[in-house]
Amino acid sequence: MTILLEPSTTVPGSDRRRTRHYLMCRPEYFEVSYAINPWMDTTVPVDVDLAVKQWEQLRQIYLDLGHTVELIPPVPGLPDMVYAANGALVVDGHAYGARFAHPQRFAEGPAYLAHLRDSGLRSATEAHQVNEGEGDFLVVGDLVLAGTGFRTDPAAHQEAQELLGRPVITLRLIDPRFYHLDTALAVLDDNTVAYYPGAFSAGSRAVLRTLFPDAILATAEDAAVLGLNAVSDGHNVVLTERATGFIAQLRERGYNPIGVDLSELFKGGGSVKCCTLELRS
Ligand code: ARG
Repeated sequence: MTILLEPSTTVPGSDRRRTRHYLMCRPEYFEVSYAINPWMDTTVPVDVDLAVKQWEQLRQIYLDLGHTVELIPPVPGLPDMVYAANGALVVDGHAYGARFAHPQRFAEGPAYLAHLRDSGLRSATEAHQVNEGEGDFLVVGDLVLAGTGFRTDPAAHQEAQELLGRPVITLRLIDPRFYHLDTALAVLDDNTVAYYPGAFSAGSRAVLRTLFPDAILATAEDAAVLGLNAVSDGHNVVLTERATGFIAQLRERGYNPIGVDLSELFKGGGSVKCCTLELRS
């Protein structure tokens, strides 16, 4: 797939764009052999060849957009390792490792940390507190938004704040379908987010309104196809093609939405953002 890059001088909002460094994991061993979120159904068959093909298309979009994509080798027996976002949180070249909530995924934490130790980062630190990396930590400008309620322990929010020296804002998730923050909130640029209000507690909704009065509010329909599980470089927003309403909202606000088909990885309860860990230098 080829993506035509619009000339940056004429596109509204394109000055917000930055090239990014991503880490991804090819879904060679992907399957749904256990169910740890409401999207996973072990009786529904998965087409692993199609999963790899769709994932390759996503990777190619990032490359066509001029981003760097680093790969971590997949490990047999860790089918969810494709969801690289959960592997760590990396800010200013410092990686805060993941410590998974479920035993089925526990071994992914050390696997990602070992890779990040060899990635030329400034540091890579093992976590003491349960946290699922960028699944529950999202960086917006100088802030880190942090989800809790299903996976990441609020104690990890404190641990990340101490390690990274960025303000970490705790947000409480209340709907099990949106078990990670990145299923309910998308960072679009350094000042702008989109979210589905129904996924958050009343107090957290109030916090989001205070911090982001101009946020895009996504509908229940777009949230239910994991439309908010999107990756933005500040201008181009890669997301599931199923989130048609959100795609229109993004366009109205001057972003360039790029729709993809990740139907197989959706069966594990993930979409674009889940497959993508940003390595911030
Ligand atoms: N099956 C995985 C789990 O339930 C999906 C993880 C999705 N990743 C994400 N960043 N939301 O843990």
